[in-house]
Amino acid sequence: MSEKGKVVLAYSGGLDTSVAVRWIQETYKLDVVTLTIDMGAQKYLENARRRALDVGAIAAEVVDARETFVNYFCWPALRAGALYEDAYPLATALGRPLIAKLLVDTAKRHGARAVAHGCTGKGNDQVRFDVGIKTLAPGMKIIAPARECYMTRDEAINYAQKHNIKIDVTKKSPYSTDENLWGRSIECGAMEDAWIEPPEDAYQWTVNPCQAPDEPQYIELEFEKGVPVALDGADMDGPSLIAKLNEIAGGHGIGRIDHVENRLVGIKSREIYEAPAAKVLYEAHKALESICLTRPAQRFKSLVAEKYADNVYDGLWYSGFHQDLTAYVHSSQRAVSGTVRMKLYRGGAVKTGVKSPYSLYNKSLATYDEGDEFDHRAADGFIELHGLPSRIQSRFQQGPLQNSEQKVQTIPPEIEAG
Ligand code: ARG
Repeated sequence: MSEKGKVVLAYSGGLDTSVAVRWIQETYKLDVVTLTIDMGAQKYLENARRRALDVGAIAAEVVDARETFVNYFCWPALRAGALYEDAYPLATALGRPLIAKLLVDTAKRHGARAVAHGCTGKGNDQVRFDVGIKTLAPGMKIIAPARECYMTRDEAINYAQKHNIKIDVTKKSPYSTDENLWGRSIECGAMEDAWIEPPEDAYQWTVNPCQAPDEPQYIELEFEKGVPVALDGADMDGPSLIAKLNEIAGGHGIGRIDHVENRLVGIKSREIYEAPAAKVLYEAHKALESICLTRPAQRFKSLVAEKYADNVYDGLWYSGFHQDLTAYVHSSQRAVSGTVRMKLYRGGAVKTGVKSPYSLYNKSLATYDEGDEFDHRAADGFIELHGLPSRIQSRFQQGPLQNSEQKVQTIPPEIEAG
């Protein structure tokens, strides 16, 4: 048994976290246990365990967290309709609190009093990790090599060579990426200039919409209480459904997002996302809500969605406020069950049909044809009362309402003159 203290490091298997293993050993004189988490990005997974041990970790754990990630993080965000700044489905932001939880659990199991991650001091992810870890395990020490001793890519390569760390650096990519089942985040490289169109090689999950098939593809998605449960009539578990949909929708060029976003640390950053499945599912879920929720419920829920997205983005997953919002979202979804038909075509995913046993859409009320059951005469009384405040106001406040000297005119002058 080792006499040294231990630290559990979130390990991707790439250059930076491999360098981190050695750097922590040297700087902190701690034994390193690595933790590699599968949330649907296959990249380094198969080799991660072996690589971690090669670099000097005393133990290397690999956890399949796909089910947990989808059921406890992606589906709740989808049910909430949470899109950061109306654009970003939050793939990276949703993954971080799960990694924080697994780091803390693994540390406890190994009797480690410290955990470590590879974030720099400039992004949102360090905040999400640190806040999550400190909330779940207040006494836990956090080591962040890239924040404490930032290395450029060349410095990291030199460090690796000096320390005999075998890393494949031939596939040099100009981008910094993060991916899981819910999406892929890409930053750096040429797109740091906000005027430059993202180069085609930034995308890996989606074909260019110009090169997408010329034939639309129709799919049917079934939801139960806001959770997707079947694709084209076949029941599927969450990870399989998302993986399949990423493939189908990515093949139609769907889910490319180009976003200049407001980071938590105060800077604006240009980020590209690929989220084919999330894009289709958000559209379909919204369509289903349009027939299953009442007007005030829809309006209120969009306010909740914005708060929910900000809260997730800001790394406050384990806050009481998040629980409160989730409780509302959960309750709101009790009748959001049914089927949505989506048309996928050249970068677009649009709803072409929707049905639900709980639908509030009533054809005999909506129709202008035979069978109309709407009581047209009731409209008179309704309009009388609905317009009452406006009529009273115009009678008693004529001056202030029509004063042409007021700065903001709501009545066009020519009508006023006539
Ligand atoms: N900007 C996104 C977020 O804060 C993604 C960050 C992911 N990192 C990356 N290397 N692209 O959630």
